[in-house]
Amino acid sequence: MNDNPIGYLDSGIGGVTVLRKTVKLLSNENYFFFSDSAHNPYGDKTDEEVIARCDEIVQLMIQKNCKAVVLACNTASAKAAGFLREKYDFPIVAIEPAYKMVHDNNPDGATLVMATKGTIESEKFHKLFYKYYNENTALMPCVGLADIIEKGDRAEIKKYLFENLAEYVGLVDNVVLGCTHYPLIKDEISAVLGDVKFFDGSVGVSKQLKRVLEKNDLLSSSQTLGTVEFVDSSADEATRIAKQKRFFELLK
Ligand code: DGL
Repeated sequence: MNDNPIGYLDSGIGGVTVLRKTVKLLSNENYFFFSDSAHNPYGDKTDEEVIARCDEIVQLMIQKNCKAVVLACNTASAKAAGFLREKYDFPIVAIEPAYKMVHDNNPDGATLVMATKGTIESEKFHKLFYKYYNENTALMPCVGLADIIEKGDRAEIKKYLFENLAEYVGLVDNVVLGCTHYPLIKDEISAVLGDVKFFDGSVGVSKQLKRVLEKNDLLSSSQTLGTVEFVDSSADEATRIAKQKRFFELLK
């Protein structure tokens, strides 16, 4: 039993799509969310760069007395989870693209996996992809998409999707949202692709966190609602304030 916070890490505010599911499941826990906007996007960075940043953030989380860390970023998970688990001896829970969910729920449908270039090209994703391989799948590295979602420019998001998803119109049943920023633009994706089923790993990773905390006897015994602390790494104060405001709006 332990009331220390659970650390959440993402390259920006996208990880809120994971935290808002966890908060429903584990509402009495305290959370510390780190949004690394001084260094995003992670999707186009080398493995070494992502590992080095995640390592620094995890060290900050240790200073904050976090009892577990959730990598609420598919790119960070794909590139740094192995390194971090080897280095640290507390629980590190990592999200991954929900390709297994497609296998379990709608394997006969044509599937489009949307993720960052870094995730799609990673060894971790290749293993997952071939484990649940289905030839009726297209992989789409969405270069730049997380970045424009982070900026929140709706017109730019619509333009990006219209241009890049055009070739899949009428051909896709399942869409794997393999980046934690993408659940924020489900409506815009549906506006181009029509009636598709969405799959993302946020509920799965929240349940996994609960199992891991239980197993390590780290669940909070508090009877009251927990707190959420948000920190953004931008050097610019106005940016930090704007991110925080958007984060808490999206957390609701
Ligand atoms: N939310 C991150 C992910 O899930 C975004 C990656 C990026 O910064 O490019 O992959």
